[in-house]
Amino acid sequence: MAEAQEQQRGGYAENVSAAELAEVGIRFEVDGEIATITLDRPDKRNAQTFATWSALARIGESLPERVRVVVVKGEGPSFSAGIDLRMFTPEGVPGQGSFASAAKADDTSFDQLVDQAQQAFLWLRRPEIVSIAAVQGHAIGAGFQLALACDLRVVADDVKFCMKEPALGLVPDLTGTKPLVELVGPAKAIDICLTARVVHADEALRIGLAERVVARDDLAAAVAEKAAELLSTNRDAAVATKRLLQGARGRTLEEQCAAERAEQAARVRALFG
Ligand code: CAA
Repeated sequence: MAEAQEQQRGGYAENVSAAELAEVGIRFEVDGEIATITLDRPDKRNAQTFATWSALARIGESLPERVRVVVVKGEGPSFSAGIDLRMFTPEGVPGQGSFASAAKADDTSFDQLVDQAQQAFLWLRRPEIVSIAAVQGHAIGAGFQLALACDLRVVADDVKFCMKEPALGLVPDLTGTKPLVELVGPAKAIDICLTARVVHADEALRIGLAERVVARDDLAAAVAEKAAELLSTNRDAAVATKRLLQGARGRTLEEQCAAERAEQAARVRALFG
């Protein structure tokens, strides 16, 4: 039944059509339990706009329930060159404003604007899914933060992560600062952000930014392999375990032990009750 419904809407998330996505340079495909989001503006190095973020958020809102793994990738030489540089011009991105227009917004409107953009990134952390960023070439600014929004990063050996915002007078505000600190620690995060230097594949692997580095031509296969490994475990146990792992940092050992007991009670009752 779910399959038939999905076929009817062409396998796309129900509140965003393929045509709408194509207009903003995104492809979205669902194959069984795996959904793939492709940033598809390779001629502009998959630069991101508010329209990109709105579409990503809408994909998240209506992700088919059976999806367990979401792959985020970029077409062409770069994963993503970050925010569309037209935002820095007085004209901005047609229909989407500019930093100059955002500067005129009052506190509440500015807060809402960035909050809306952040929704594109936040859903990728949901316990019900595991998100994998497949990253090749440049992942700059918003591109780096999109990779950081995913649970795992499988990268090509030509990857170039760069948190360019401070070099442009801005801060990273697309949900990337917390995962960056959690992955590499505050000192390395300060080093990476405040120098806006490039992090290459070998360092990314060493400091925990990337789970795996492969040759460029092997990236798709490596991601497919990881997705298959993730699908090999019990779905409900995977969701409960991700919930436990995500909550671990914010809890004391005693609280974490209690959380383990509560999740296990639910699992044991579901399996053996
Ligand atoms: N926005 C809009 N267009 C972009 C773009 C961007 N971020 N990055 C690249 N492009 C466009 C170029 O203008 C060029 O278009 P044309 O062919 O029409 O001239 C095309 O993509 C190819 O670009 P390059 O020739 O520069 O490609 P390259 O492979 O030699 O270099 C690159 C790739 C290193 C990513 C380089 O394009 C670059 O430095 N881009 C800008 C990166 C950047 O500063 N991004 C902003 C980061 S800050 C952020 O994202 C968050 C924030 O809130 C500020």
